[in-house]
Amino acid sequence: MGRIENKIAIITGAAGGIGLATAELFAREGAKVVMTDINIGKLEAQGRRMTAEGLSVTVAAHDVTQADDWDRIITGTLERYGALDIVVNNAGVGHLASVEDETMEGWRHVLGINLDAVFMGTQKAIVAMKEWGGSIVNISSIEGIIGECVLAAYNASKGGVRIFTKSAALHCAEKGYGIRVNSVHPGYVITPMVTDTINALPPDVAEAMQKDLLGRIPLGRLAEASEIAQAILFVASDESSYMTGAELVIDGGYTAR
Ligand SMILES: NC(=O)c1ccc[n+]([C@@H]2O[C@H](COP(=O)([O-])OP(=O)(O)OC[C@H]3O[C@@H](n4cnc5c(N)ncnc54)[C@H](O)[C@@H]3O)[C@@H](O)[C@H]2O)c1
Repeated sequence: MGRIENKIAIITGAAGGIGLATAELFAREGAKVVMTDINIGKLEAQGRRMTAEGLSVTVAAHDVTQADDWDRIITGTLERYGALDIVVNNAGVGHLASVEDETMEGWRHVLGINLDAVFMGTQKAIVAMKEWGGSIVNISSIEGIIGECVLAAYNASKGGVRIFTKSAALHCAEKGYGIRVNSVHPGYVITPMVTDTINALPPDVAEAMQKDLLGRIPLGRLAEASEIAQAILFVASDESSYMTGAELVIDGGYTAR
């Protein structure tokens, strides 16, 4: 308990999955957490539940692709708490399409949320934090390191997050801002992103895909969102004080082969 006591954290995409697990863990470790998401109904329900449990969380509607939304969230956080220490750029979308099947519209949608918005969130977090320092955690994926034939746009977006994070980290170090910027690379995690994708497939295709997937994971199972949250907590906290521009992989051994 108390690993990020009294730190002020913004977590995007916090209505479910990895973002929600991270918000819960951060709050249990003493942070004051601003949970944001485009899905306000789901977000408010989670916020009410967590507040009833005595956790220090607030919720805010936020489309991460919108600069005005970012300004409102960051200004509101600074007005309410007087500081901002941690930003987790977690909101993201999955999309199954190969390079031949992808459309320009699909490509722009995925890149807009998964990459452009991470740029925006990182840039705005740096402006807000540069007086006192902080930690920015960008959620990439193992799909930002290796390719997958049906994830053309997703691979591009997550690879972009990986190398953009290093550029931002170097900039902050050179300027002496005391801001660390790192990326986290989960393997396959049991969240709505994965389960909804699998459930949308015809049952025989879904079964074959799950079998194939499990066969490629040395630990033989998908991750729980809480296991990814533990890694995000480490990167966000002062425990990783010498870590910047780094990429932390949590994938059950998937990319070790
Ligand atoms: N689940 C996995 O296997 C996995 C693996 C590697 C990386 N990731 C990454 O982890 C992050 C979280 O994924 P997840 O699995 O928890 O997914 P999820 O679908 O469960 O949650 C994503 C959240 O992002 C929100 N969101 C989507 N578009 C948004 C927008 N424009 N503005 C604000 N919020 C928006 C959604 O409403 C949702 O609550 C994503 O960046 C994803 O790419 C997931």
